[in-house]
Amino acid sequence: MLSQKLQDAINSQINLEMASSYAYLAMAAHFEANSLPGMANWMRIQANEETSHAMKLFDYLCERGGKVVLKPIAEPRHDYETPLAVFEDALHHEQTVTASINTLYGLAQAEIDYPTQVMLQWFINEQVEEEANATTAIDQLKMAANNPSAILMLDQMFGARVPEAAGAE
Ligand code: FEO
Repeated sequence: MLSQKLQDAINSQINLEMASSYAYLAMAAHFEANSLPGMANWMRIQANEETSHAMKLFDYLCERGGKVVLKPIAEPRHDYETPLAVFEDALHHEQTVTASINTLYGLAQAEIDYPTQVMLQWFINEQVEEEANATTAIDQLKMAANNPSAILMLDQMFGARVPEAAGAE
């Protein structure tokens, strides 16, 4: 049985993953409104991945006999000056998620809860990938600077992103 402290922390993580999904969906809406459908596609896929992260934790909590308690999600940011500013915000967001996962892992260690530690290893690896993806996008957008042709080429590239296979997201 999970400790109450760990249950509360996992519920907070579910909230953060759902807030991430909401934030990425707002970024998708921003790109749709600014005629950058490829970047919107990238953000839509990311939003869906975040929902699946929340559901992994949701299912885990149920499996361990805990109770899922959903908390409110704040209104995300809707407007940005440039595509670069959007991806910088995405990276900042991922860094916050990474810190939260690491804190959760530390708590699972302190509580000597081995199954939770094993479950969280997937998230630890995922965060390395999520931060790397956002960093690559930032580097490419910096290279493109304010060149419209380069931005449109990147938009096409981001438009080629496809959802990961079920379970791998
Ligand atoms: Fe589920 Fe992007 O953190």
